[in-house]
Amino acid sequence: MPVPAWLQQRLEAAGGSVPFARYMDWALHDPDHGAYGAGRLRIGRHGDFATAPSLGGDFAGLLAAQVAQWLDALALAQEIGASRLSLIETGPGEGDLAGQLAAALVAGWPLLAACTELVLVEPNAGMAARQRQRLENCPLPVRWCSFEELAAHPLRGVVLAHEVLDALAVERIVIGDAGWRQQLVTLHRGTLRLEPGGPLEPVAAARLQPLGLQPPGEQRPPGWCTELHPGLEPWLAACGAALRCGRLLVVDYALEAWRYYAPQRSNGTLMAYRGQQASSDPLADPGHWDLTAHLCIDSLVAAASASGWQLLGQCRQGEALLALGLAERLHGLQHQGTAGLGDLLARREALLRLVDPAALGDFRWLAFARGVSAADQAQPRPGETPLFLAEPAQPTEPGPGLASAATETTQSTPAP
Ligand SMILES: C[S@@+](CC[C@H](N)C(=O)[O-])C[C@H]1O[C@@H](n2cnc3c(N)ncnc32)[C@H](O)[C@@H]1O
Repeated sequence: MPVPAWLQQRLEAAGGSVPFARYMDWALHDPDHGAYGAGRLRIGRHGDFATAPSLGGDFAGLLAAQVAQWLDALALAQEIGASRLSLIETGPGEGDLAGQLAAALVAGWPLLAACTELVLVEPNAGMAARQRQRLENCPLPVRWCSFEELAAHPLRGVVLAHEVLDALAVERIVIGDAGWRQQLVTLHRGTLRLEPGGPLEPVAAARLQPLGLQPPGEQRPPGWCTELHPGLEPWLAACGAALRCGRLLVVDYALEAWRYYAPQRSNGTLMAYRGQQASSDPLADPGHWDLTAHLCIDSLVAAASASGWQLLGQCRQGEALLALGLAERLHGLQHQGTAGLGDLLARREALLRLVDPAALGDFRWLAFARGVSAADQAQPRPGETPLFLAEPAQPTEPGPGLASAATETTQSTPAP
């Protein structure tokens, strides 16, 4: 496929090649040509890929109880006269989750909703334009801001990052004859190629040891390739500077380092999505496909800790949603008569997909806090929804074989 003129010019200006992360950032976030930057990607059953909120309102309906509990704990700890609480959604996509959560809070927790604003952090103008349309009649006050703008007057509240961090550009590294190399995207006779570049910068090389990648080891032959996540720490630091006090919930497809970097996973987790199709070719039609990589849980937790976040806990989405009442919701559908049977069946299917361990149920929920004293940690009061979080499970044996690697690369977003 010919290289688009805009990309050809950029690559020529850069000397013919750029690190993979720079290419991925352009392909996703360039304001004129990027898949998100230009607002080209559509999220939903009839779009390029589906996410949990795009399957209907039940995901937000369940998550609302957790968000309300955290906001409530902040409200109780709030000094008299303190400013309002904020529900901050980063990377809101079509605006579905924000709209659904606002409606659920107003319906279920009206007093809390009365002192809560919705703040959306969306760097891509093309996506923000659609969010404005979707949230035209939002029942909460709503504004769009960057983390940098918020840092001038940091907020008290809850930050949600649902399928956002997987859209941050990843660095790809590949084993060459003499050790690790940075992977480059190069122009070659009018086409794009992935090629090994020079040795890793010291900052990138220092990241390998804790991930079990240094030395590469005999089980990883030349050509073995994976991803690093250099964008996490700056993102978490910027997010932290925007929040004086509160919690961050990251929901995404993620793997522990021992699984992410298992020798069998010889080409990382990077995938491209468009029109409900998945592809492993990140160079096809740049700016028209979503490019996404799993998160590495260890890298995320380390970056969060370095940015002043305290890990509260983590679990799989299936466990979280069951703790928040998914089974009861599913059961309740049976008592709603047969009017609107099509809608009921669609909701049933969506609820089952949310907990399917081979799909959305395997997503990870990781919760972090900052500026919250131990006494203010949200504990459920008698009769309240329990917190979903459990202590992170430690692996007791080496990583899985190829069988589970294969299921995990298909666990992400496209609808079947
Ligand atoms: C996969 S979509 C997820 C949308 C939505 N959260 C959902 O689950 O349906 C990724 C979203 O993150 C936005 N995004 C990309 N980079 C971002 C960043 N650095 N900070 C905040 N949002 C970002 C994209 O423009 C897009 O809206």
